Amino acid sequence: MPTVHANDIDIAYKDQGSGDTPIVLVHGFPLDKRMWEPQIQALSGEFRIITPDLRGHGESQITPGPYTMDLLADDLKGFLDALNLQQVVLGGFSMGGYVAFSFYRKYPERVNALMLLDTRPQPDSEDAQKGREDMAQLAEREGASPIAERLIPRLLSPDTVANRQDVVDTVRTMITECPVEGIAGDLRGMALREDSSDLLSKISVPTLIVVGDQDAITPPAESHMMASIISDATVVEIAGAGHLSNLENPHDFSHAIHDFLHPH
Ligand code: MLT
Repeated sequence: MPTVHANDIDIAYKDQGSGDTPIVLVHGFPLDKRMWEPQIQALSGEFRIITPDLRGHGESQITPGPYTMDLLADDLKGFLDALNLQQVVLGGFSMGGYVAFSFYRKYPERVNALMLLDTRPQPDSEDAQKGREDMAQLAEREGASPIAERLIPRLLSPDTVANRQDVVDTVRTMITECPVEGIAGDLRGMALREDSSDLLSKISVPTLIVVGDQDAITPPAESHMMASIISDATVVEIAGAGHLSNLENPHDFSHAIHDFLHPH
């Protein structure tokens, strides 16, 4: 797997396909670039798809946390610089969307279009921040397995959990292989994230918003709210999918991206 040195760390990534404006897809918590395999398969025949591992995830370098969204956005900026990419279509899934908000706030000139995928602009409540710290300490005490068992029923729809063992196994593998430093770094970084609600009205690039129709973590109502504020936004709800809509219904999810980039 190729690696570049950026913002003082080694960042691993996959780079497949070719096209004028590369699409960079940023994974969520506590996952890695493998979550994008269905989209790479569906779209890399027509587009260049680049999928980095965030610090502390997959094959990228592990550092102590917290991983603030601004730090991860600076990693991404260094990553684009290292690959000599001036402008990209930036897609962020969930925590990757929080990173995309931070990136857009700091480096809007590098973004040609945005894809906000099962994400939301609000920061954590005090209760949510406390829950993040409890989960970080659980990971530090007992490792990634209890985190996987706790998250799987929230990330996937009840139907996927009951009937799609392949999807459950893919998600469990990514979570249990995530370094504990990465899990704790994300959780403490997400707890510190700022409110991006004020940014929505300043987003001036075409924006695709995608959400699973049964997403319990970032529900469809949040997506429709974002679309009502962003000046040039389209929302697509993915049928039969929870939070991990790109893995639960990869066909419709990839189709939504394809239609956004190549409207008929
Ligand atoms: C994610 O999927 O990245 C996280 O669930 C987001 C969150 O916990 O806020």
